Amino acid sequence: MIKIASAADAAEQLRQAYGCFPSGVTAVCALVDGIPVGMAASSFTSVSMNPPLVSVCIQHSSTTWPKIQPRSRLGVSVLAEGQDAECLALSSKGQDRFAGIAWTPSPDGAVYVSGATAWLECSLEAELPAGDHLIALLRIHGLRAEPARSPLVFHGSVFRSLAAVSGAPNGAAG
Ligand SMILES: Cc1cc2nc3c(=O)[nH]c(=O)nc-3n(C[C@H](O)[C@H](O)[C@H](O)COP(=O)(O)O)c2cc1C
Repeated sequence: MIKIASAADAAEQLRQAYGCFPSGVTAVCALVDGIPVGMAASSFTSVSMNPPLVSVCIQHSSTTWPKIQPRSRLGVSVLAEGQDAECLALSSKGQDRFAGIAWTPSPDGAVYVSGATAWLECSLEAELPAGDHLIALLRIHGLRAEPARSPLVFHGSVFRSLAAVSGAPNGAAG
């Protein structure tokens, strides 16, 4: 066990440990002055059924979040297997992130990545400070899901695909 005296000393160990937890990848996007703006986020978590809430963690250094944060609707697309290129484009710097991406806007200005496995129309419910990130709590106003479509999986800094091994446990959502 490594003792964490200073987070700076343990940055690599933290990265490794966090990377042991597999996640999906979402794209959080909205129209800003008619142009699609968004970012990849693997920190997505389902939070509450009633009311329907999800969260994403956003690093303070993000230049995209301040642009989309004030929008009345944010589109959250849960990326599907094979959408590694979309994820990389949506996390890239210095290029048009949407140049090679098929997307659709909602009438309220959310932006959805085509070919994803689920799409959530959200508004920002609350922002909570959380160290070098903030937790954005999002309320779901509408959704569409294609549960038969496999998700993109991110684990240990590598994109992977999912394999089913057994049936569903009692009481687990999803
Ligand atoms: C697989 C993957 C997952 C990511 N997850 C997050 C995340 O959960 N939160 C976050 O703030 N940035 C995340 N990023 C980084 C952002 O997509 C983006 O690169 C970063 O916000 C810097 O760009 P910006 O200045 O335009 O915001 C992730 C990047 C990748 C490739």
